[in-house]
Amino acid sequence: MKRIAFSLLCTLLAANIYSQTFDVDKQLDYCHHQVMKSLQQLRPYDFTQEPRNILAGQHRWNCRRAVAEEWCSGFWPGILWMDYSYSHSAEVLHAAKGYTEVLKPLAYQPIYDHDLGFIMIGSFGKGLTYSPMLSIYRPILLAAADSLATLYNAKAGTLLSWPRHVKDYGGHNTIMDNMINLDLLFWAAANGGSPLLRQIAITHATTTMRHHFRPDGSSYHVAVYDTLSGQFLRGQTHQGYADSSMWSRGQSWAIYGYTMVYRWTRDPLFLQFAQRVADIYLLRLRQTSDDMIPLWDMDDPRGLQAPKDASAACVVASALIELSTYLDNERRLNSDGQPDTDNSHHNNGSAHRYRQAAIDMLADLSTPRYQSRDRNSAFLLHSTGHHPAGSEIDASIIYADYYYLEALLRLKDLQQHP
Ligand code: GLY
Repeated sequence: MKRIAFSLLCTLLAANIYSQTFDVDKQLDYCHHQVMKSLQQLRPYDFTQEPRNILAGQHRWNCRRAVAEEWCSGFWPGILWMDYSYSHSAEVLHAAKGYTEVLKPLAYQPIYDHDLGFIMIGSFGKGLTYSPMLSIYRPILLAAADSLATLYNAKAGTLLSWPRHVKDYGGHNTIMDNMINLDLLFWAAANGGSPLLRQIAITHATTTMRHHFRPDGSSYHVAVYDTLSGQFLRGQTHQGYADSSMWSRGQSWAIYGYTMVYRWTRDPLFLQFAQRVADIYLLRLRQTSDDMIPLWDMDDPRGLQAPKDASAACVVASALIELSTYLDNERRLNSDGQPDTDNSHHNNGSAHRYRQAAIDMLADLSTPRYQSRDRNSAFLLHSTGHHPAGSEIDASIIYADYYYLEALLRLKDLQQHP
């Protein structure tokens, strides 16, 4: 009894400290202000054109065709849904629906690649979360999940990420980013879709855990498997500095992905793994950066002269806030929704450590160094998209804003329901 009271006191104290040191509402107000500026720029709306980036020195969004071969189409509608949940602005709602619904054909046409998950989770998924009366979104998400599952290779035990690159990579390629798409499969299995979708997601996560990481918990970007036998062939990079380096956003997808897989499975193995991949990220971050925002790749030999990647910090901040909630004894439930009595993975110290790290990231991101403010209408500066290809280096990129806003809303939720 005494222990429960003490732990409750710690949680309340921590929530109090967090809310005193970081003003979430102020940052959510800032985001809403920037969203309205962006909407003004985009008017009259052509919903088929979605904001993607604002390059260094530019002031306006560069848009991409939403239903082309574009992996980021879900982020702008997702930002609008999240902003709507906070601002309740009718104009934002109108735009959220428009930019979401234009993506519907993607769920019914032959799949281009694994990014269908990113696209649908951000758009229709966030729409369903924040506007549940839109039940017309459910069949679209279910169709998209079935489509995503067609990329599954049972021999390898993972989804194929890039069908167009099978030849280049000499086999079935799976990238770390693909972990995020499992959310769509889990959701579908829990909402009237085939139970097989859940099995595919679990097998993908388990196979990835086995092959996609080095002994220290850092990840390769790409794992290549023999298409026919399914045998793991090698790990390598695509967007990172080197095959052996830690590409910051790749590691951020791993942290976010395994936290999300734990959310759906409540399997302690995934919780422990999420902590493992988070711990190596935090260790290397502190060794290589001058703040809580990582270099685009932690092994870039230029060190602090190398570009940063604010987007990775946003993904990690959002993930760590969620991860911290699974380590609060009071909030833990087992897979049947009952209080979890397995003590082996309870760790309040880690909960506070992850939450504080996330808040430190959000605090750094919310300074003039990283916020765009009057410079453009995105939320943030200094993300890096595809450094080896020389693309989107030190830019405002739409997914940084998406995960920044998601992290702020998660923190607000936590402050309201400690
Ligand atoms: N999914 C591609 C990237 O993270 O850049």
